[in-house]
Amino acid sequence: MDLVGRPADAGRVAFEREASSSRAPSAPFAGAPNGEHAQSDADAVASRAQTSKMRTEELRAFFGRSEVIRGITLPIPEKKVTAIIGPSGCGKSTFIRCLNRMHEVVPGARSTGKVLLDGQEISRGVDPVRIRRRVGMVFQKPNPFPTMSIRDNVLAGLRLNGLRPKDPASLVESALRRVALWDEVKDGLGRSGLSLSGGQQQRLCIARTLATEPEVILMDEPCSALDPIATARVEELIHELQSSYTIVIVTHNMQQAARVSDYTAFFYMGELIEHGRTDAMFTRPRQQKTEDYITGRFG
Ligand SMILES: Nc1ncnc2c1ncn2[C@@H]1O[C@H](COP(=O)(O)OP(=O)(O)OP(=O)(O)O)[C@@H](O)[C@H]1O
Ligand SMILES: [Mg+2]
Repeated sequence: MDLVGRPADAGRVAFEREASSSRAPSAPFAGAPNGEHAQSDADAVASRAQTSKMRTEELRAFFGRSEVIRGITLPIPEKKVTAIIGPSGCGKSTFIRCLNRMHEVVPGARSTGKVLLDGQEISRGVDPVRIRRRVGMVFQKPNPFPTMSIRDNVLAGLRLNGLRPKDPASLVESALRRVALWDEVKDGLGRSGLSLSGGQQQRLCIARTLATEPEVILMDEPCSALDPIATARVEELIHELQSSYTIVIVTHNMQQAARVSDYTAFFYMGELIEHGRTDAMFTRPRQQKTEDYITGRFG
């Protein structure tokens, strides 16, 4: 059931119908797009949500002197899918890279404010490698390790973390089954990861992330290099994973945000303009900028 007591799928189906129609959103829009408004919306969502698995508070991210994330407070509800949308360069990738301590690996990059995981501050004072295991990431371009077999690719994340599974064969099988790749590759686990199609490679990369047993999965435009059929399979997979994981997905595809996410956050020039339930945001955006973006007037 969702927060207003409807079965989650009912909301999703109703919304898909809305999203696929060509009508512009019809409800009135609150004016005054500003950070304060967005913030209180985000807080309202957080207080209604059962639990925030993660949360940022006044997060700011910099490359040298340039501030590209400008004070974002955003709850990320547990075992839900949160989509992040916004025009190119607005800070989506930087934001999610702050969620698993990847931002700091860029020379000259830093952040201020808080990132909380299960209520604990993780942006400083804790081992970033442990955080990256709990908060895994899937990238835009499928990136299996080119010299490794399919089997070793699944195990690579664990090995990079210095972990040795007791029963690697069954771990490889269960991770590949979870991403619905097992039947396609079980007879050739020793083949190179690169011998797979783009969509299969992306599912392999998701299996590699799952093998490390993360609690949160960050996906940065995971389907942008895939054809529509491979995209549909990854979207199905996101649906399935959602019952076990908290997922944050960056996407440029409005229909995809509508299909896969429970909550959507709209970023613009490093600020959070609006955040709320996906169905409400796409049908009754509160901010003019959100409406302009989702109806394709800019971006
Ligand atoms: N390594 C870097 N060094 C300096 N500036 C950077 C770096 N990476 C990103 N930026 C800048 O930070 C801002 C946010 O970039 P980011 O990649 O987070 O945007 P995005 O919303 O993910 O864009 P896209 O939709 O194109 O992927 C941009 O202005 C970008 O030019
Ligand atoms: Mg990006």
